Amino acid sequence: MLAFIGGTGLTRMDNLRIIKTHTVETRFGSPSAPVVEGELDGQNVLFLARHGDPHVLLPHQVNYRANLAALKEAGATAIVAANAVGGITAQAPTGALVLPDQIIDYTYGRDMTLFDDPDEPLVHVDFSWPFDVTLRNALKARLAAAELNWNDGGCYGATQGPRLETAAEIARLERDGCDIVGMTGMPEAVLARELALPYAMLSLVVNPAAGKSTHEITMAEIEAVIHDGMANVRQLLAGFARHYSR
Ligand code: HPA
Repeated sequence: MLAFIGGTGLTRMDNLRIIKTHTVETRFGSPSAPVVEGELDGQNVLFLARHGDPHVLLPHQVNYRANLAALKEAGATAIVAANAVGGITAQAPTGALVLPDQIIDYTYGRDMTLFDDPDEPLVHVDFSWPFDVTLRNALKARLAAAELNWNDGGCYGATQGPRLETAAEIARLERDGCDIVGMTGMPEAVLARELALPYAMLSLVVNPAAGKSTHEITMAEIEAVIHDGMANVRQLLAGFARHYSR
């Protein structure tokens, strides 16, 4: 079953008709919230609020391992994760959607593997291409049909947070090749890979990253963009669920 992970601004899918709530305990602990199974535009899908419902968990407090394990246990076969990001390059203006194709991980101290059992064989997963091509292509088709401002490809820099970055940190990310910056893409993406779950990310640019505009980054500014932007994401995901079958 197709699963969505909702980030900031997408704690609930209000267009989802709830069928069942999976309260899953995993060997890594509890996920951020119960996994909701529901019908979205005629398709059964799973939904998980990354930061909890209500939104209480900061990016570094999210139990990513439990979230991914719970989705798998609830029957997920593919995951589309929505998140809010800061825009670094011209490919990522505020309000646009970005379908990243690469990741650089700057996070630290997070539990980033499911393979930590000393009795199990060592596994180093291939992560050269962190996002699933089939899922990305299917998302591209919906984005192209929706006439939204979006960009195909881009490198997602995953930072630790919860503070925003300094201008120098963003300049470094830009030199590294990052187009967008967010706090939750890792280890979420790699855990999906470890579970062999196809995973793609849909990122909404909610502010110019640090040093990319002349004004202070405020929550009010971010929330205004999220309000309209996530409404588009909700609609897009509903259309996506209808067209995507796996
Ligand atoms: N930096 C990191 N994460 C973010 C940002 C940002 O500017 N905006 C939204 N999430």
